[in-house]
Amino acid sequence: MTNHPTAERLVVENLSKTYGSGATAAHILDNLNITVEPGEFVCIVGPSGAGKTTLLRCLSGLMACSEGGVRVGEKHVTEPLEEIGLVFQDYRGSLMPWMRSADNVALPLEGKGVPRKERFERAQQCLAAVGLPDVGDMYPWELSGGMQQRVAIARALAYDARILLMDEPFGSLDAQTRFELEDLILDLRRTMGISVVLVTHDIDEAVYLSDRVIVLSGKPATVVDTVEIDLGPERDQIKTKADTRFAEYRSRILGEIKLKKAA
Ligand SMILES: Nc1ncnc2c1ncn2[C@@H]1O[C@H](COP(=O)(O)OP(=O)(O)OP(=O)(O)O)[C@@H](O)[C@H]1O
Ligand SMILES: [Mg+2]
Repeated sequence: MTNHPTAERLVVENLSKTYGSGATAAHILDNLNITVEPGEFVCIVGPSGAGKTTLLRCLSGLMACSEGGVRVGEKHVTEPLEEIGLVFQDYRGSLMPWMRSADNVALPLEGKGVPRKERFERAQQCLAAVGLPDVGDMYPWELSGGMQQRVAIARALAYDARILLMDEPFGSLDAQTRFELEDLILDLRRTMGISVVLVTHDIDEAVYLSDRVIVLSGKPATVVDTVEIDLGPERDQIKTKADTRFAEYRSRILGEIKLKKAA
């Protein structure tokens, strides 16, 4: 996990997404323009159904945009790329229950043709990076929910992802575990120099983690605000959240989401 190539800039240009066509067409995202700088942590918030997961699917190359597009550096994202890792909310559905943790983490490398011994070493490195150096031989169902989500993060990193896309990754965890994993992701971002784009309903989580929060709202959704979070590079679950600016950011974002909902 050393000598990483630097992350590249992620650019979303005039992205629109419509599901279906004709009379049943649903226009979900309208003309989004977003840039995520190398090493930046960006959270996307917005009301339920706004299109956050849809946006992440487009960013990951799993789904085509209707208009506009996504680039990583100069490369157009038209299919999943090695440099983009994905973590979803439902870790229970994302890990293979019949495979040991190390094999789960190593799975993406198999398709890449990496030799078995190297795959296993890489999996162990990634598990150690998420604080689980000793669970390689255990099955997912032998682990707690928080540990399973750490394994899912390790798997996303195994490919040497430079950009991590996360969709409500901590939504089904208890508060304490959630805080631990938030701090883990902040650490990984710092030590590995990766960029992170994280979707969340939780405005406190977004403000705590982000360099920048992007607020999506409306039908179809547009970017209604971009909030630079000036809380410094070091975050602390107690001190950062007690900062008066933290409360100001939270009120601003909450107001925007609520206002748009009522509109
Ligand atoms: N595959 C699909 N085909 C048709 N419509 C879809 C599809 N996926 C999502 N939608 C619709 O697109 C809209 C946005 O869905 P999306 O899941 O992106 O929202 P979200 O912001 O992630 O919501 P939540 O916060 O509840 O996760 C919803 O109205 C949903 O019904
Ligand atoms: Mg969603």
